[in-house]
Amino acid sequence: MQLIKTVNDMQDVGRWFRGECKTIGFVPTMGALHEGHLSLVRRSKEENDRTVVSIFINPTQFGPNEDFEKYPRDIEGDLSKLSAINTDVVFMPETGEMYPEGFSVSVDMGAVGKVLCGASRPGHFNAVATVVAKLINVVMPHRVYMGQKDFQQTVIIKKLVRELNADTKIVVSPTVRETDGLALSSRNMYLNEQERKAALILYKALKLGEELVLSRGMDESGLVKKEMEAFIKTEPLAKTEYVDIVDAYNLAPVQRVIFAAVICIAVRIGKTRLIDNIIIEKG
Ligand code: PAF
Repeated sequence: MQLIKTVNDMQDVGRWFRGECKTIGFVPTMGALHEGHLSLVRRSKEENDRTVVSIFINPTQFGPNEDFEKYPRDIEGDLSKLSAINTDVVFMPETGEMYPEGFSVSVDMGAVGKVLCGASRPGHFNAVATVVAKLINVVMPHRVYMGQKDFQQTVIIKKLVRELNADTKIVVSPTVRETDGLALSSRNMYLNEQERKAALILYKALKLGEELVLSRGMDESGLVKKEMEAFIKTEPLAKTEYVDIVDAYNLAPVQRVIFAAVICIAVRIGKTRLIDNIIIEKG
């Protein structure tokens, strides 16, 4: 496994792979890798000749009162997990390498970056889009692998790639869950035992929403939202930030839950903010 720290070296390797007609799969991460990330790496390995994983905790996508300082860091553990599954290249730049003195460019994603999580995290998705645009230019992947758990992020990066004509394809893999349904997330590490149990309310609420639509024929978004919010309130450690039902393509709110709509939720469990979603699909 090759460890690369500079943009120039990464671009040389990307060019070399492309020159050799090798397809490049890319998994962008902020480290603290779990099975969700590793499943993306495995998929990339199956579908491409070479797989590159980036580990970069992007400071610009954290708000002033967010968890940048305490975001979990486990470089040794990450590298050993990636090496165990034969990752070809790990790109691990320092902040100054990605944002040299005087850096000032920012991608503006418009409305899709301002709804759902973007409403309480101003500038977050512009910062994500900017860093992913840079990473795509540096790694030069044929395919970029992302998890459905960050649904809004996947919609934003697809739009970024489409509208900037980037020569790559975004591949979204289903959310990986614990056996009880909790979506894997690096932030689950913040939960104590009691909060871990309480966090299950997210998945249960999503399954309730799905059941209301698919089995009980409730197709009015407002009603589904109300039932889900009332259900989340039954968990004393949970505080709903939003329950929203949106169009899976452009994240616009939908009045009626038609296919394919997606139910997205953000809930605070104690001090930890968790997100999850479910796509409403027929059959
Ligand atoms: O999902 C993440 O880990 C990050 O938002 C990403 C895509 C690596 C950009 O920093």
